[in-house]
Amino acid sequence: MKQVAAAIAFFLVIVHTCSSTNSIAPNSPPTLVDGVCKQTENYADCVSALQLNPRTSAASDLKSLARIVLETAIANTTNSKDYFELMTKSKRTAPSLMPTLKNCISSYARTVALFNSTIMELDSDITAATYDALLAYLGSWYCGDSLNSTRLDVPSIKIRVYYLDLYGIIGYRITKQLSG
Ligand SMILES: *[C@@H]1O[C@H](CO)[C@@H](O)[C@H](O)[C@H]1NC(C)=O
Ligand SMILES: *[C@@H]1O[C@H](CO)[C@@H](O)[C@H](O)[C@H]1NC(C)=O
Ligand SMILES: *[C@@H]1O[C@H](CO)[C@@H](O)[C@H](O)[C@H]1NC(C)=O
Repeated sequence: MKQVAAAIAFFLVIVHTCSSTNSIAPNSPPTLVDGVCKQTENYADCVSALQLNPRTSAASDLKSLARIVLETAIANTTNSKDYFELMTKSKRTAPSLMPTLKNCISSYARTVALFNSTIMELDSDITAATYDALLAYLGSWYCGDSLNSTRLDVPSIKIRVYYLDLYGIIGYRITKQLSG
């Protein structure tokens, strides 16, 4: 009898564990992040870019994840823009790089503004949000294109071009997914 009771108790624990994981799984944060990052070219970088913000793991739906992603994108892009501004002030920066830095500063400022409008439109106008997210993503191209035209190899700019490209595609995919 004891054995039966133990077996039943064990069975109930298993059933309880399975059903509680099942009931959480469909909307759990890893699933949300996974769904978004599967739509980008670099899955691993996408996941780490999203997890840079500790709030990501608490996002309960796609829209709150979108807001977190876009806020992280704004912070990251502003940080790159500040870095480019510091470079223009440094005596060690090659004069031939100055026009590119100016292009990068203005395109990063525009992109920050577009990410910002995207956030505000998430609730009011998802079509406009998707359009602004697309413009932000396309805008990420200018700085890299300008750098390429100089034929200078500047890893510190290249990596920041990559960051914006990454946040641009994530912002666009997630907004597009929300627009259905
Ligand atoms: C910007 O994003 C990239 C890619 O996720 C990350 O590696 C980098 O540390 C971020 N920079 C800042 C200042 O948050
Ligand atoms: C985003 O837009 C709001 C409203 O226009 C503004 O107050 C805020 O400063 C903007 N934030 C950024 C990071 O541009
Ligand atoms: C710049 O050049 C690199 C390496 O050739 C290339 O992968 C990248 O797409 C170019 N970027 C732009 C914006 O044209």
